[in-house]
Amino acid sequence: PDPERDRLLQAYEWSAKFYHFLLKNTEHGTAAMEYLRSRNFSDKMIDQFQIGYAPDRWDTLQQFLEKRQFDLAEMERGGLLSVRGEGKGFIDRFRGRIMFPIASRTGKVIAFAGRILGDGQPKYLNSPDTKLFNKSRVLYNLHQSKASIRKTRQIVLLEGYGDVISAWESGVLNGVATMGTSLTENHVAMMKNLADEIVLSYDGDRAGQAAAIKAIPMLEEAGFRVKVAVLPSGLDPDEFVSRYGGDRFREQVIESAVSSVKFKLIYLKKNHILLEEDGKIAYVKEALQIIASLHSSTEREVYLREIASELELSYDSLKQDCNLLRASMQ
Ligand code: UTP
Ligand code: MN
Ligand code: MN
Ligand code: MN
Ligand code: MN
Repeated sequence: PDPERDRLLQAYEWSAKFYHFLLKNTEHGTAAMEYLRSRNFSDKMIDQFQIGYAPDRWDTLQQFLEKRQFDLAEMERGGLLSVRGEGKGFIDRFRGRIMFPIASRTGKVIAFAGRILGDGQPKYLNSPDTKLFNKSRVLYNLHQSKASIRKTRQIVLLEGYGDVISAWESGVLNGVATMGTSLTENHVAMMKNLADEIVLSYDGDRAGQAAAIKAIPMLEEAGFRVKVAVLPSGLDPDEFVSRYGGDRFREQVIESAVSSVKFKLIYLKKNHILLEEDGKIAYVKEALQIIASLHSSTEREVYLREIASELELSYDSLKQDCNLLRASMQ
């Protein structure tokens, strides 16, 4: 038993309720509510994810906690308050931010991510690592998605809070996100107990695509089947849903996710200029590396034929090069 831990859990639970109340029922929350509306967050999702608002003041939460007899130094260690810059005492850690509570697997609030309204740095301020929270060991929304994950044995892995929420509203109930860190072995191990297949649905920008390329071998080495949901360039899942709607997101992005091999080939192609011979040859060389390492000859044939027709090459010569490469790999 750890009394400090229990007190912190209590403080997080009450703080989440408080921030949610301030957003929905007070004037402090008006601008934040407008911001959320402008981003198509519905009332239903605001409730489902207990989204809140931390007013742009120094002592809103501090007074709330003080009135409830919490020890403020303890609350500072717990990540809810900060040490005042000058003099003594404590101030609210989160000010003027939309608050996304982060829950443990069992649904207890253990941290927050606070988003600034509009532009500014940092875009998201997260709770520090505390007794309750270690960001490399938590997946956002796992507590709500695990029922659906168990049923489907599939996890949709997204980048951000808004992406998970938009996916949920679109009917994708098995979505989780890492918390601003790249995928860790801890995350992989956590997911391994629950699912067999991962659909990577990262942002459609360079960073998101590069993160997917990095995540694929980690997940495959752990034994997952990996698919990748491909978004039009630049958009993230949340933006896609706002622009094209949830049905299209489900059907044309998540359910149309491509194999990890296909994704690697798409990614590779973007980095070569196929109109030039040099680019074409370099692309084929690297593509063959990927294809040659596939165990199934059917799979190899499928991809080799695709490349052959796409680049107007003969299947036979591709196959020959692929087999040479395989021999050298043994
Ligand atoms: P993104 O930059 O893609 O943000 O970072 P986003 O989720 O699309 O945010 P919106 O839509 O502009 O609100 C992806 C994730 O990386 C983490 C957050 O978890 C975010 O959701 N992140 C990003 C941080 O932790 N801090 C930051 O300053 C930025
Ligand atoms: Mn509510
Ligand atoms: Mn991103
Ligand atoms: Mn994003
Ligand atoms: Mn976004």
